[in-house]
Amino acid sequence: MEHLKINIDNALGLVSRGEVEALLPEVLAAKQHLLKGDAAGNDFLGWVNLPEEIDATMLANLKADVARLSSKAKMMVVIGIGGSYLGARMVIEALQSEFAGMCRGDKPYIVYAGHTLSEDYYAQLLNLLEHEDYTVTVISKSGTTTEPAVAFRIVKAHLVAKYGAEEASRRIVAITDARRGALHDIAVQEGYPMYVIPDNVGGRFSVLTPVGLLPIAMAGYDIDRMLQGARDMRRVCIEDETLGNPALLYAAVRNALYRNGIKVEMMVSCIPNLRYLAEWWKQLYGESEGKQHRGLLPHSINITTDLHSMGQYVQDGERLMMETFVRVSKPHATVPVPADEQNLDGINYLIGKSLTEINDCAANGTVEAHVAGGVPVVEITVPTLDEYTLGQLIYFFEFACGVSGYTLGVNPFDQPGVEAYKKNMFRLLGKPGF
Ligand code: PA5
Repeated sequence: MEHLKINIDNALGLVSRGEVEALLPEVLAAKQHLLKGDAAGNDFLGWVNLPEEIDATMLANLKADVARLSSKAKMMVVIGIGGSYLGARMVIEALQSEFAGMCRGDKPYIVYAGHTLSEDYYAQLLNLLEHEDYTVTVISKSGTTTEPAVAFRIVKAHLVAKYGAEEASRRIVAITDARRGALHDIAVQEGYPMYVIPDNVGGRFSVLTPVGLLPIAMAGYDIDRMLQGARDMRRVCIEDETLGNPALLYAAVRNALYRNGIKVEMMVSCIPNLRYLAEWWKQLYGESEGKQHRGLLPHSINITTDLHSMGQYVQDGERLMMETFVRVSKPHATVPVPADEQNLDGINYLIGKSLTEINDCAANGTVEAHVAGGVPVVEITVPTLDEYTLGQLIYFFEFACGVSGYTLGVNPFDQPGVEAYKKNMFRLLGKPGF
């Protein structure tokens, strides 16, 4: 197996290799907490063994439902927020064309709802759905989250008006709790096919459950390969007790930097398709570590795009950040820079180089500049971007997150702070009891 690689050479300076290595006992203890389930949050460790324990019958049913729904429509509305949304979108956007929405042809296409309360967004969505055949997957672990509940009501009303109640029920799948919650009850009453989010898997760790698997399969991607990537990475994360274990090394280096004054971790990539990897990662690390007034603030930039906006701050602003640069060695296609005899733009020196060579030079130049400017850079490299390497990245970041959170001294598996805005919103909306 060629697995993802991590390089911390460019992260050393503010902290030495010795200081990172000194954290090995702490990250090993944190890893043991994940494996033994003997620390805070231990009722949410179902994700640790998920790639090995995935239920074959559930997978077969899920693929059959995907085939059935695909034969009805090529567009699916996926309704969910936070952990019930970002994982699927991360994988789909990493793999699909940046222009998939504009040149779809007969390809399956996912549109999203339930992640916003913008009125204009729903007006635009309903306008689209007027002209499209579509199916719906509604995802909510609690089954009571306001944003997806509102979105489901709006989309379901449209679906029923468009196809009639009976056919609408055949076009909806629900992914929710096995026993309770409003969505569970609606799905039972209406007879929707239902998939379960295990009790012991929190939202932000749920991409390898039906929450991620169904939309990703619906978009036409190979979920078996993704699970294989996660399985192979799980083995490395669990078996290797040294800092050769990429998850332990990542957890160690980011904690070492945090203890030495770094406050912000920026995920960097030079591929626009990885935008949602950063969004998923921000939720994973932000919700897991941002508590008790602790934790690195996860942020992200895309290069070279953001070098023309945020680049100035990263190079010369307050020295508070590290970067985690996710790199992909090989592109899927080649686009040469065309020759032009006149060379008025002065870029004939690039002829003969692929765009990837040019992008790599920009990336290497950026790393060099940022390191010289006092920004430690961790590099994580996968050979190419496909279902298998995304499976590896998912498990790597999840496992490292659990290890890192325990090393930081917080419970990485709760999110008490998320309730504060909800209470205020319910009071302002006049919800009974608030
Ligand atoms: O990670 C989490 O727990 C949250 O981001 C939830 O996934 C999010 O709030 C959505 O919750 P639910 O799936 O219950 O609707």
